[in-house]
Amino acid sequence: MDTDQMNGAGAQPCSGVQWYYAQYAEALAHRYEGLSFDVLYEEVLPWLPTAPARAADIGAGTGRDAAALARAGYRVTAVEPVREMREVASRLHPEELVWLADALPELNAVRGTFDLLLLSAVWMHLDPDERPVAMARLSELLAEGGRLVVTLRHGRPPRDRRMFDVPAEETAALAAAHGLRPLHASTGGDHLGRDGVHWSRLVFEKPQADTA
Ligand SMILES: C[S@@+](CC[C@H](N)C(=O)[O-])C[C@H]1O[C@@H](n2cnc3c(N)ncnc32)[C@H](O)[C@@H]1O
Repeated sequence: MDTDQMNGAGAQPCSGVQWYYAQYAEALAHRYEGLSFDVLYEEVLPWLPTAPARAADIGAGTGRDAAALARAGYRVTAVEPVREMREVASRLHPEELVWLADALPELNAVRGTFDLLLLSAVWMHLDPDERPVAMARLSELLAEGGRLVVTLRHGRPPRDRRMFDVPAEETAALAAAHGLRPLHASTGGDHLGRDGVHWSRLVFEKPQADTA
């Protein structure tokens, strides 16, 4: 099913994007869970810290990536603001994961630091005022030497949920402003085959203090 078309004539305008994910959690699970972690992140895999390491999947959705990381030996915190998504995730993924109900940009409930922060298809939901706040918080949450992976959806945003086509350059500039150095940037098509949608995959690193 194409969820970009799920929002038919009766759908409500949605400023709170989380309403959309709550409404369609079950249907979206079919879409998200059909994608393989190894295929989705093929270009990014060489840049991931070696397991075991502390990973946080922010905006974890149905838990596909958090579960794959846990199976690969990472200690994973999955952060997802939408209860309905967390419920689907806990049903689908028995892997040992810590789930937190929290949201960007503040991520107030997230404690400690991480060797890997994964934001897959989430950054696009933050508005221009939220993105700098979020990047500052992500930089705090990264351990020295830690990696931040961000995927950005490009193309005309759907009208049924708040979404922005955020340029990779803007994201790289924000990361740089918080001392994160770029390790990798690539672009690719949409694994779900949607017309007019393509993606950037970005990896940044928080330098060790003595090399910053
Ligand atoms: C397109 S889905 C991606 C889910 C998962 N990361 C994946 O790649 O399959 C976006 C997810 O981000 C969550 N989300 C929306 N706004 C968020 C925010 N401000 N902070 C964290 N997560 C958010 C949604 O609830 C949803 O689960």
